[in-house]
Amino acid sequence: MAGVVRFGISLDKELFARFSAMITKRGWKNRSDAFGRLIREELVKEEWASGQECAGAITLIYDHHKRELVNRLMDIQHDFGALILSSQHIHLDHHNCLEVIAVKGTAGLARRLTDALRSVKGIKHATLSMSTTGKDM
Ligand code: NI
Repeated sequence: MAGVVRFGISLDKELFARFSAMITKRGWKNRSDAFGRLIREELVKEEWASGQECAGAITLIYDHHKRELVNRLMDIQHDFGALILSSQHIHLDHHNCLEVIAVKGTAGLARRLTDALRSVKGIKHATLSMSTTGKDM
């Protein structure tokens, strides 16, 4: 980080009170720390909206006994090989599996992969956690 900038902010009293309560609840250091965190959250959203290179994780929950489901998931992941960094498969119980797929690439591709996986018959839940490569943070 190249230096520090100080600036004043005017806030509605009620909003300020809620902001202060949030800082305490989340255990953030102080108001400057809080603003930095909130701004970075928005910058990551901008990265995802602007087509920059992003990083994230897709999680899937499914029953591996469902016919053809595992093969279909594998086929789709091979189609997106350049986007996928790694995947981890966890056997939650006798039926259910948790799969976590780490991705790096454009937001559009990550969403397309997530949508393709989510649409496979037998998928119980699918999420895309959108994060950043960290280069500009
Ligand atoms: Ni499993």
